Amino acid sequence: MSEFPVHPVPASFSDAHIDKARYQAMYQRSIAEPDAFWGEMAEEHLSWDALWHTVRAFDFSNGEAAWFSGGILNASVNCIDRHLPARADQTAFIWEGDDPNDSAHISYAQLKTEVCKLANALRSRGVKKGDRVCIYMPMVPEAAYAMLACARIGAIHSVVFGGFSPEALKDRILDSDCQTVITADEGVRGGKPIPLKANTDKALAACPGVHTCLVVKRTGGQIDWHSGRDQWYHELTGVAAGDCEPEPMDAEDPLFILYTSGSTGKPKGVLHTTGGYLLQATMTFKYTFDYRNNEVFWCTADVGWVTGHTYIVYGPLSNGATSLMFEGVPTYPDAGRCWEVVDKHQVATFYTAPTAIRALHAVGDEPVTRSSRASLRLLGSVGEPINPEAWEWYYRVVGDSRCPIVDTWWQTETGGQMITPLPGATDLKPGSATLPFFGVELALLNEDGSEIEGPGAGYLVIKSSWPSQIRTVYGDHQRLIDTYFSHYDGYYFTGDGATRDEDGYYWITGRVDDVLNVSGHRMGTAEVESALVLHDDIAEAAVVGYPHDIKGQGIYAYVTPMAGVTPSDSLRDELVQLCVAEIGPIAKPDVIQWAPGLPKTRSGKIMRRILRKIAENELENLGDTSTLADPGVVQDLIDNRSS
Ligand code: PRX
Repeated sequence: MSEFPVHPVPASFSDAHIDKARYQAMYQRSIAEPDAFWGEMAEEHLSWDALWHTVRAFDFSNGEAAWFSGGILNASVNCIDRHLPARADQTAFIWEGDDPNDSAHISYAQLKTEVCKLANALRSRGVKKGDRVCIYMPMVPEAAYAMLACARIGAIHSVVFGGFSPEALKDRILDSDCQTVITADEGVRGGKPIPLKANTDKALAACPGVHTCLVVKRTGGQIDWHSGRDQWYHELTGVAAGDCEPEPMDAEDPLFILYTSGSTGKPKGVLHTTGGYLLQATMTFKYTFDYRNNEVFWCTADVGWVTGHTYIVYGPLSNGATSLMFEGVPTYPDAGRCWEVVDKHQVATFYTAPTAIRALHAVGDEPVTRSSRASLRLLGSVGEPINPEAWEWYYRVVGDSRCPIVDTWWQTETGGQMITPLPGATDLKPGSATLPFFGVELALLNEDGSEIEGPGAGYLVIKSSWPSQIRTVYGDHQRLIDTYFSHYDGYYFTGDGATRDEDGYYWITGRVDDVLNVSGHRMGTAEVESALVLHDDIAEAAVVGYPHDIKGQGIYAYVTPMAGVTPSDSLRDELVQLCVAEIGPIAKPDVIQWAPGLPKTRSGKIMRRILRKIAENELENLGDTSTLADPGVVQDLIDNRSS
């Protein structure tokens, strides 16, 4: 799989929470006696107001799953109140602003007051259990307060990444019928303002159901004001009480919705519930990162993605940890920023995406080596396959060959990590996410659905439920069944391909469906295609991924203009802007190739396999083209390939 050597568990992790023997014993028990195992784990790791009547029940034929039903708890109490006796003065969040001179420490006691004030403010606007609240925020502590305030009163948060366009925001607000939006006047990233309130205004023009828009004053920039609907966050929370009775929640009551892309249609609202999600977040945070009291943990994701939900907010806080939230970008003011922050705040664990590692690697070692990084104990990777070269650089230069790297595979739908090393238990192979977490039963399938035994390559599926399993696609349970549970009977289909080696280690090879992973951001090819064909001059578009040195995958768009339209650079620019407007800057095509025709079967289906090969420049290996309606178009695409 890789020519790179195995890295055994270092001596510095000999006292880790989980060693090799304990991993084996716990994993085996989690599979052999799941009810007993998970019942014990739930009692040990979470605070409950009442225990459950049933540990787990699931049915993969209809995608249903329920964990700890009848159990009563509140996620905000687990993340805040239960720590107060011992940790009131301990820092819950370190906030590092975009400007290197801006930072703040928020203690657990302060967190409780801030969350309760906002929870009361939301209640004063009529928000109650089960209501959906959209959070469209920059990376400021108020984003976390907003999530936790929703959890406190039983409202369901739907965080929308601040990089999404007004159009994308509108779609998400409407799909889950959010009536409240929490945003900021502007965000700041890399020294530049992001017009969040102006974007929200545009989105809300088409969302008549939204009665309240709470606005955090981040920059004081000029914004429009819709009186009645718009409320300053600081004014509403300023008059609210700092104590708020938590809503008792059934373990199966929804905690949040988070939109993610699939191979067809609009993004899906992935719904997670309270007890199972929080347990997976809590346990994976503790064991994968071998968390020790008083350490500083830094996950560089945005709270708009699942990684931010689980490993900036819920996982760290449920463990009483100190979580660092970074507003900026790794290259501002320069490429040494991450390591300056590590030294400034004495970060012990640094968790990021391969795309960031590759981008920083490309700049060279000096911005890293001019920092100390002596506080680092562990490194992590998430979001896309990490190539062994990037892994080795991360290990050798960033971690000074001392810090293990946990390469964690999971998905928005899985809620928490599923395949991951545990640093005290797992020997590391660069490029492999290694072994399943407790309770995760994996299989690799052949095309015909038969299971592969031993080493081999196939479709990665999951054979039984796990606590933080996606419960439904908001408003469309059939879509859940169609997407995840109908490819192969009795299995959850991940959409990923993987290989398994002779040691049982998993190597994720990437998506096997029409989902792109661009810089760790998930996007359906269909979403980008729909944006492109909105242009009046465009007849048809087909989008595929291709290997990109930094982004992992780049977006390659084949675009057919309407008859009589002459392709031009300005048309190309308009198409790029259309993708930005419909989705956001992350959806900018890297390559647009004008295609007078697209390769189609006689029944009119676009043959993406061929388009992928051309984009990848694998021209010798186009496969069977005999079913094409017009084989000539392929040669034309090859001749005019954009390099
Ligand atoms: O293809 C896999 C890839 O990211 C997909 C999930 O994307 P998303 O729901 O946005 O969640 C990302 C953060 C958890 C997966 O189907 N992926 C995620 N982690 C890894 C990965 N691919 C390889 N190695 C990983 N560690």
